[in-house]
Amino acid sequence: MFKELEEINSRPAPFQFYTADELWTDDFTSKKMLELHLNDSIDAASRSTEFIDRSVEWIVSHFKVDAGTKIADFGCGPGLYTNRLAERSAGVLGIDFSKRSIRYAQEAAVKNELQVNYIWQNYLDFETEQRFDLIIMIMCDYCALSPGQRKTMLRKYHTFLNPGGAIFLDVYSLSAFAERKETALCQFNLLDSFWSAQNYYGFLNTFKYEDEKLVLDKYTVIEKDRTRVVYNWLQYYSLDTLAREFEENQFQITNYYCNVVGMPYNSDSAEIAVVGKKL
Ligand SMILES: C[S@@+](CC[C@H](N)C(=O)[O-])C[C@H]1O[C@@H](n2cnc3c(N)ncnc32)[C@H](O)[C@@H]1O
Repeated sequence: MFKELEEINSRPAPFQFYTADELWTDDFTSKKMLELHLNDSIDAASRSTEFIDRSVEWIVSHFKVDAGTKIADFGCGPGLYTNRLAERSAGVLGIDFSKRSIRYAQEAAVKNELQVNYIWQNYLDFETEQRFDLIIMIMCDYCALSPGQRKTMLRKYHTFLNPGGAIFLDVYSLSAFAERKETALCQFNLLDSFWSAQNYYGFLNTFKYEDEKLVLDKYTVIEKDRTRVVYNWLQYYSLDTLAREFEENQFQITNYYCNVVGMPYNSDSAEIAVVGKKL
């Protein structure tokens, strides 16, 4: 028992494990996640309808989206941005590895007679001959990726964009990093039975990596017959560290905001949203 508790409380090396699928594609948690996406009163998984409406309005006006604009949304979830962008006649592709979310997005598109190309796939493996004017990745999903995975995505984005094309994404800021605290707790059916339909004991160990500006929420879920460990990494950024990472991958930040509705940036904001132009 002591040995197991030591394992539960142990701090892995930065990005040592990648378990995003446990969170997003597992049959039980993906159902919980879809509920969170669609729950307007909680800003988890997706933001509120009112916020998304404003964000899409901003994207349409900033990027001059019209019938000729080709947009790809990486980690599109249940299509809350993609379907709205298709309503503005843009040519839209949405990719996500949650089958449940893609199915929801597709059904909503059909119901509203919208043409959206939905692809159920891990975006780290996605390849296409199509080219886009705008690539979006919204709700800080970029922060969940390791440095190597982020490089992979930026390289793909560079290839997939037309000349003059841009990416638009949001990340967590150093102000948000300062608010994070290390914790260690154990609760019966932690997070209101989020992790399983069976009873379980859930451990949450939050580790901060000061040098890397990285936070890990490590969940150990112990059911009667199985134990799972889920690693949720979040990279936090200053404008400078993000600009450097973009430049190393042939993108230049041309505009920055405090969120994806284009509100002016200030150093206290928890998020930074950026437009990165393909160089
Ligand atoms: C925080 S949610 C945001 C969803 C959507 N962008 C929004 O704001 O409503 C992140 C999404 O990325 C998807 N995702 C995470 N990692 C992925 C991967 N490696 N490949 C494909 N989709 C991924 C998840 O399934 C989830 O739908």
